[in-house]
Amino acid sequence: MNSQKLMAVARAMVAEDKGLLAMDESTSTCNKRFAGLGIPQTEEARRTYRELILTTPGLGECINGAILYDETIRQQKKDGTPFVKVITDAGIIPGIKVDTGAEDMAGHPKEKITEGLDGLRGRLAEYFQLGARFTKWRAVITVGDGIPSRGCIEANAQALARYAALCQEAGLVPIVEPEVLMEGEHTLERCCAVTEEVLRTVFDQLYTQRVTLEGMILKPNMTLPGLTCPKQDSVDEVADATVRCLLRAVPAAVPGIAFLSGGQSGELASARLNAMNVRFKSRLPWALTFSFSRAIQQPALEIWQGEDGRVLAAQRALYHRARCNRAACRGEYHTAMEMRRE
Ligand code: 13P
Repeated sequence: MNSQKLMAVARAMVAEDKGLLAMDESTSTCNKRFAGLGIPQTEEARRTYRELILTTPGLGECINGAILYDETIRQQKKDGTPFVKVITDAGIIPGIKVDTGAEDMAGHPKEKITEGLDGLRGRLAEYFQLGARFTKWRAVITVGDGIPSRGCIEANAQALARYAALCQEAGLVPIVEPEVLMEGEHTLERCCAVTEEVLRTVFDQLYTQRVTLEGMILKPNMTLPGLTCPKQDSVDEVADATVRCLLRAVPAAVPGIAFLSGGQSGELASARLNAMNVRFKSRLPWALTFSFSRAIQQPALEIWQGEDGRVLAAQRALYHRARCNRAACRGEYHTAMEMRRE
């Protein structure tokens, strides 16, 4: 492992107030989103959609890295150009999701454990050969009555740390993604307490497993009230709570924090990220950026609907969200941006 190279890639992933584009939906998740819009759930439809995303003009102005899925990293444009070449030609670093999904955790009703460590060393070597320079692994933490349990938090944190160590050994920058879910009635305060406990446990395990913090990126949830919580806090309250939580739990050696969107609307995700950067950017040790999937892709997918004639309009919608999020990284996003699309 060359630590200098790893650190350079990690810094490049969050440089220049740009972010990451998550387009690593598993086949089943992608099919579910297609089914909701009446788009055929075929390999060719998924390939066409991913080509639409990756050929969006100007994407590299806002995006440093794209997270692909196993099927996607092996695919090509219709004209035969490999997706990995399309991405790198656009100045974007290719990355890959390497966990194999969250399964029910034995002995822990309603909780999940993420799998994918078996055989991971071999898969990482192949992904590096295919051109990937970073990876992603997502752990899922559910908030509810009596959960999350210590058992669930510790098992997921250890898996994240073992994954991260294997990635760095293979010369790949790990994105470490412990996601505390939005589903539930819990308050913002509860989400903060759970997120802080999860992050402290994750960093404890990363240290134990000898992961180089300068050569990784953290992908956490913003701290948010549960979707069905009667009290929905303001954008500024969410921004303050999220940054306070991260300052307590994330070491300064980590170069960047790239949020997942977790089911927030595109506008709210941009507004909250923006508020964090407006209020705190000059005082933070790490870059605060985005690694959204739904909050960046959803409008484009809804416009496309599988129709060739709608590709350009869908690409404009994707570029618009990418620009809004880059502005949010600079603290320059404003809701007026949603009115005048360029
Ligand atoms: P969302 O932004 O849709 O939450 O997806 C991010 C992601 O990569 C989940 O693993």
